[in-house]
Amino acid sequence: MTELDTLQATREAYDAIASTYARLFHDTLGDRPWERALLGAFAELVRSRGEGGGEVADLGCGPGHVTAHLHGLGLRAFGVDASPVMIGLAREAHPGLRFEVGSMAALDIGDGALGGVLSRWSVIHTPPQELPAVFAEFARVLAPGGQLLIEFPATDGPDQETQAYDHTVATAYRWSPDRFAALLREHGLRESARLVSEPKPTDRRQFQEVQLLAYKA
Ligand SMILES: C[S@@+](CC[C@H](N)C(=O)[O-])C[C@H]1O[C@@H](n2cnc3c(N)ncnc32)[C@H](O)[C@@H]1O
Repeated sequence: MTELDTLQATREAYDAIASTYARLFHDTLGDRPWERALLGAFAELVRSRGEGGGEVADLGCGPGHVTAHLHGLGLRAFGVDASPVMIGLAREAHPGLRFEVGSMAALDIGDGALGGVLSRWSVIHTPPQELPAVFAEFARVLAPGGQLLIEFPATDGPDQETQAYDHTVATAYRWSPDRFAALLREHGLRESARLVSEPKPTDRRQFQEVQLLAYKA
């Protein structure tokens, strides 16, 4: 499969389930206090860059619920997603915010234009060999000192760099947090903190989840 094939398959898969996704996950941060804390830290770090911190892109924003959360934290946030149906729902739910259809691997954003990038569970469908191009794009659009908060599921142990899994929507990939951080570093994105959280006993998938903060050196 080429990069374009993957993007098209992901887009079609999310177009098909967008309204169900929006309904199921509209309050997804409600029972995730640790994640809200990390989003709060991310917002503070962005704002500390001065003059409001610059624009922040929620890349792979889905129906825009977390973009709106970032806006509520005082950030100039906008969303980008490959799925036109997701973007339509985001615009409808949050008419005051900007949402654009686009690909994380080829963003219509200028070099160094952003104070922050959020990627919440949006690189999970990117095949491992295509992730370097996405990280290069994140690094290109961030200003020096710009912040990245990226979230993904962890592999079962450090010996496994990546593991594919049968996600409900499309094939997805877990990453060893150390390998993931090393790949970010190779693209000039340096880790500053990470939170690894355990699944609840009732979760369908018993994967650890990683929230990793990095900055553009
Ligand atoms: C699991 S959902 C996460 C949505 C949202 N970030 C959230 O936290 O609920 C993954 C989203 O990433 C988008 N996506 C996946 N690959 C993408 C790509 N290469 N470029 C842009 N969006 C992408 C999908 O269309 C989907 O809306």
